[in-house]
Amino acid sequence: MDRRTFASLLAGTIAASALPASLRAQSVIGNQRAFMAALAEKPWLLGYLGSPSIDLHGSVNIVSGQVPPDLRGYFLRNGPALHDIGPDRFAHWFDAPGMVQKFTFAGDGQIRHHGRLIDTYRNRTEAATGRIAFSAFGTHGHGLSSGGSADGQNPANISLLEHAGELLALWEGGSPHIIDPETLDTSGLKSWSAETKGLPFGAHPRRDRDGSIWNIGYSIDPAALILYHISSEGTLLKTHILPQQATPMIHDFMITDTRIVVVAPPYSTVGRAEGAFIDRFEWQGDAFTRILVIDKNDLSNVAIVEADPFWVFHFGNGYDIGASEIGFDFAHHDNPSFMTQDAFAVMDGSWDGKDSAAWRYVQARLDLSSGQLRMEKMPELGQVEFIRTDERENLEAHRYSLMLAQPSHTGAYGLNRILLMDRRTGTSMHFDVSGNEILEEHLIVPKPGKADEFWIIGTALDWKTARTILSVYDGLRLSDGPVLRAELDIALPLGLHGTFVATAEHT
Ligand SMILES: [Fe+2]
Repeated sequence: MDRRTFASLLAGTIAASALPASLRAQSVIGNQRAFMAALAEKPWLLGYLGSPSIDLHGSVNIVSGQVPPDLRGYFLRNGPALHDIGPDRFAHWFDAPGMVQKFTFAGDGQIRHHGRLIDTYRNRTEAATGRIAFSAFGTHGHGLSSGGSADGQNPANISLLEHAGELLALWEGGSPHIIDPETLDTSGLKSWSAETKGLPFGAHPRRDRDGSIWNIGYSIDPAALILYHISSEGTLLKTHILPQQATPMIHDFMITDTRIVVVAPPYSTVGRAEGAFIDRFEWQGDAFTRILVIDKNDLSNVAIVEADPFWVFHFGNGYDIGASEIGFDFAHHDNPSFMTQDAFAVMDGSWDGKDSAAWRYVQARLDLSSGQLRMEKMPELGQVEFIRTDERENLEAHRYSLMLAQPSHTGAYGLNRILLMDRRTGTSMHFDVSGNEILEEHLIVPKPGKADEFWIIGTALDWKTARTILSVYDGLRLSDGPVLRAELDIALPLGLHGTFVATAEHT
C-alpha cells in the first residue's frame, strides 16, 4: 500500500472528526439529574454511576475459598469509567474515559487491586478541567471539540491486549495506548509504522498460531476497512486497505488458517456529517449482512457472501472446515438497538427493564462454494453476550465457549448467568449469581501445565452492597460455584473487556 493512500486515509479520519460546531447542533449530552433521580428508584443503576476517583486502591477481602496457588498474574479489565465529569454526564455507555482495573495474584494467597485512568489526551484534559470537552461515540453538542484528530477524542476504553511484551489499551477509532502493567502508567500512543500512525485500530485483535496478531479498523472518510498483520515480535508485517461504498460499523472479526472473516452488518454510514459518531450510521433492516472472506495470503482477494440482516458485536472463534467451509460461533442480535437505544437509556436511567432486541447464541457454518450461511440459533439459552474461548483452541473447531447469559428478564440492565457451552457434546453448564449481582465479562484462563483445564475468572457488581465481586471457578466444574470469591470494598463501574497476563511463575 503506497504512502499516499495511507495519508489520504489519515487526513480523512481527522476531517471526519473536525466538524464545525454548527453541524453538531443536535445536543444529546447526558442528563445527570435524570440519572441521579432514577438511581434512587433503580439501585442497579449503580453500575453506570462511574468511578469515584481516577486512581483507586480497593481492599480485597477473600469471602470464601482460596486463591489457587498456581494462579499468578494480573487480571486486567478496561471500560468506560468517568461517566460524570463535573456537572456533565456522557450520553452513552461507550463514551467515557477508560480506566484499567488490575487485580494482582502474586502467589501469596492474597489479591490486590489498583484502578487508574488511562492517560490519553482526552482523558487527561477532561479529568483536569472537570468538564466534558470532546465529542464522543454517543455524546455531542454544546460546542464540544473534535480534539483535532481521532486520537484527540480517544478514551482508550474498550479492551486490553498483551502483545510482544507490551500491554495496550484499545479503542477502535484510533491508536492503542501503551500501559505499564506494574504501575498502570500510560507511556504514550502505539504506532505500528509511520504510514499507519493514528489510524483506527480495532478493539478485538485475533492471535494466530505463530503468535502474530491480525486486526481490522474502519475509516469513515474515505470509507474503508484497514487490515493489519503484526508479528509475534510486534513488527508490522503487512497492511491493506479495502475501500468500501459506505463504512459498516465492525466491532469484531475472525481469522482461520487461511482466511480473515469480516462480518459487515447493514449498519453503515449514510453520508451524514453532523452529530456524534453513532449518528453517522443508520440501520438498514432490509439490506444484507455482508460477510467478507479475505485470503490471508492475498489481502486484495475478497469473496463476499450475503446473508439476511443481523447485527453482531462478538464472535467466539473461527476455523476452516475443509477447503470451502468456515465454522464459527457468535452472539446474534436482530439489530443494533442494544447500542442505539438501550445503552443511551441506561445512562439517563430511563431504561424500562426490557431489552429492545433479542441476542442469542448461534453456531454457524459458512459454505463458500454455495454462498450459504447456516445458523443454529439457541434462544433457549436466553440473551447472551461477551463470548470468550480458550486461546489454546484458536483457529480450531473449539470445544468450549464461555459467555454471559440472562435466561429471563430481571429488570436490571445486565447479565446474571455464567454459561459454558461444550460444543463437542452439545451440552452446557452454568452458574447463576445472586439477583443483586450484574456480571461483567469472564475469561477462560489456562491452568499451567494442564492442556485441557482452565479457570474461569471474572467480576460482578453487587449493587445492593455496593461491592465489586471477583470470582474464580474451576472451569470444568463451573456449576459447583466459585473456588474463590473475593469482595472489593468499593463498587467499580461496569466495564467491557479484560485480559489475564500470566507472570513468570505461571508457565
Ligand atoms: Fe467488544
